[in-house]
Amino acid sequence: MSDLYARIAGIGAYLPEKILTNAGMEAIVETSDEWIKERTGIEQRHIAADGELTSDLGTAAAREALKNAGIDADQVDLIVVATATPDLTFPATATIIQEKLGVTQGAAFDVHAVCSGFLYAMATADNFIRCGQAKTALVIGAETFSRILDWTDRTTCVLFGDGAGAAVLTAEPGKPEEAKGILKTHLRSDGRFRDLLYVDGGPSATKTVGHLRMQGNQVFRHAVNKIAGSMQELADQAGVDIADIDWFVPHQANQRILMGVSKKLGIPEDKVISTVAKHGNTSAASIPLAFDAAIKDGRIKKGDMVLMEALGGGFTWGAALARY
Ligand code: UT7
Repeated sequence: MSDLYARIAGIGAYLPEKILTNAGMEAIVETSDEWIKERTGIEQRHIAADGELTSDLGTAAAREALKNAGIDADQVDLIVVATATPDLTFPATATIIQEKLGVTQGAAFDVHAVCSGFLYAMATADNFIRCGQAKTALVIGAETFSRILDWTDRTTCVLFGDGAGAAVLTAEPGKPEEAKGILKTHLRSDGRFRDLLYVDGGPSATKTVGHLRMQGNQVFRHAVNKIAGSMQELADQAGVDIADIDWFVPHQANQRILMGVSKKLGIPEDKVISTVAKHGNTSAASIPLAFDAAIKDGRIKKGDMVLMEALGGGFTWGAALARY
């Protein structure tokens, strides 16, 4: 393999205009602002407008990422979209975004790892770049989970929101250890946990789209242990001490999970980027949305070491270490 690595050239994000607060949720299901805040940390979530599609959210995030990277869309030769809420069963949302961006070269495809999707998409693009098969990749996490929620089920509908985030990765000569870029990714899955978090419909099984179902407290229990394990394993493989990492950008499912993981690994709370209060759980979009927010508010700076992590339906889980 040639000595190439993937540099994070730019990050971008997009949130739909409409905000649904916890007070608004109280009008939909029997719940309370107090319960939602105490159990999850969520205060509000964004909801896509009628006719606003996952590809629209993803395209807006991608445009911002390209602008921040100073790169034209016609340089992009790989688009990997992580989504569990595609516009259509096919074609891939990635090809729809490709068309909306005006890109006519390279390859575009979706990866499906639900809330871990952004890490899976990033690992895929990183490997394409390391192999010399792509020079400029767009990695996008985009979701419209509001469309697959059962709005009568208070145990799930209060948790999720819509949004998108994107990263532009460029191929650079050299080893990532010596420069800015993705240092290492660590992906895991175990299909035995399917029944704890799934959608009860699909083209082959039911010929319908279905609704999200989750045994939240069971997922919670697995999340803390599996995420912490993955982060530690990745840090060990990379030869990096957890204490030397500048920022932790977790998947934003629940503030208590974020705190549980950081406590387990001895990470100070002020190093953990949390957007769960404002975004809710946006599945594959949550990591790039949080990353983007921390760049915009000045916390994450060029050269900082960042560890991302997630767990989602499947289960799928993992972590990614990068120097921004
Ligand atoms: O992104 C993919 C990964 N997903 C996650 O990581 C989610 C992981 N799970 C969680 O975040 C938490 O388990 C939840 C936030 C989903 C639930 O919190 P919990 O502390 O585990 O609560 P619970 O499910 O054990 O339910 C406690 C009580 C129940 O009432 P009873 O049976 O004790 O009377 C629920 O019916 O809270 C009740 N409850 C609610 N009450 C008011 C559940 N949802 C609500 C609600 N409003 N929205």
